Amino acid sequence: MGQNVKPFENKVWLSSPTMHGEELQFVKEAIETNWVSTVGKNINELEKMVANYVGVKEAVALSSGTSAIHMAVKLAALKAYNTMTGTGDGKGGSLYGKKVFCSDMTFDATVNPVVYEGGTPIFIDTNKEDWNMAPKALEKAIEMYPEVKILVIAHLYGVPADMEQIVKICKKHNILIVEDAAEALGAYCYIDGKKKMAGALGDYNAISFNGNKIVTGSSGGMFLTDSIEDANKVRKWSTQARENAPWYQHEELGYNYRMSNIIAGIARGNMLHIDEHIAQKKAIYERYKEGFKVLPVIMNPFDSKKVEPNYWLSAMIIDKKAMGEQVRGEKQALYKTEQGKTTPTEILEKISSINAEGRPIWKPMHMQPLYRENPFITVNGNGRANSNAYIAGEGADVGEDIFERGLCLPSDNKMTEEEQDRIIEVIKNCFK
Ligand SMILES: Cc1ncc(COP(=O)(O)O)c(C=O)c1O
Repeated sequence: MGQNVKPFENKVWLSSPTMHGEELQFVKEAIETNWVSTVGKNINELEKMVANYVGVKEAVALSSGTSAIHMAVKLAALKAYNTMTGTGDGKGGSLYGKKVFCSDMTFDATVNPVVYEGGTPIFIDTNKEDWNMAPKALEKAIEMYPEVKILVIAHLYGVPADMEQIVKICKKHNILIVEDAAEALGAYCYIDGKKKMAGALGDYNAISFNGNKIVTGSSGGMFLTDSIEDANKVRKWSTQARENAPWYQHEELGYNYRMSNIIAGIARGNMLHIDEHIAQKKAIYERYKEGFKVLPVIMNPFDSKKVEPNYWLSAMIIDKKAMGEQVRGEKQALYKTEQGKTTPTEILEKISSINAEGRPIWKPMHMQPLYRENPFITVNGNGRANSNAYIAGEGADVGEDIFERGLCLPSDNKMTEEEQDRIIEVIKNCFK
């Protein structure tokens, strides 16, 4: 039980879609005019709106954020290596035999497209200061793998990574940046004093309209760029790569990745409310921060001089001294209750007991069974096998530590202050 805190009648979600009315109007219009396939006004308008909002020249609406990242990765491979996906003669994907630097603490959709193309992700450890890729670990990785030409970077929970540093490092070493801004639409950062939006920070950029994102189409995603040639390539590849011929003529491998005009109607209506959603999420973050002042925890951190998040998810991390014992297997977790201490597992259980939804931090990719063979680089170099039975001290693994001690809090923008107060109370009780 939630230590005598009354459960909610209606579940408080981690982050659920918020519809306003315009979504239905645009979908209705599409159906009434019979524009229900992958062309139509909703797609055109959504692309214009997002390109304007983010400050890029071109936007291509796709079926998911993952497909947008896939297209971005393929373009990066074409530019870096002049390779395309092979067709069964043993050539494999466009990244076959190539290594790619990737964010480590993220959703696996950030890195899977590298593997779709036959590449090998090399995971770069996380920054304590913003829970994103650590520029120092990236520099270490470049020393170890100077041949790498592509980097895929995500902005965790709506906090932009330290792109000023990352872009500088990548420019110096001729590395192309694929930006996964799936969680960060509306967030921005400063590069050489200039404000730049997430989704415009890489050479190839992707956002998501998944149901839990700050703006949703129920699903969907978008590829963003300043290059008309790249945008046109993605328009072609995402609609089965037809050549200009009277019949279906194919010289390149195609995909069925375009967004439907129905989904675009939902996203178009929802996009009208992005600033309102961000303001609500920011208020939730600040209310948690205030409520937790007395606790040995900190909220997911960022440097307000460098970035302004979209506050998509509020998350917290328990101070080491207040961290109870917790053991996590591949699928289950156990913890010990101890006075004055708690664990993410206990807090998530208690949140769930009052009918609210929290979530563990993204389990870092280098800890995933799928990627256990892949290199993982920390600020000290190789992050694998970095302890020694005969020498005291451990190698730094920031991502693992944040995963151990952190958790995502219910961050739904429809949550009332009263509901949030109850969640804060339940969490405070865990430390008693
Ligand atoms: C960081 C990150 N990358 C990629 C994705 C994939 O987006 P989609 O679900 O639209 O394919 C998501 C969310 O789902 C995400 O959180």
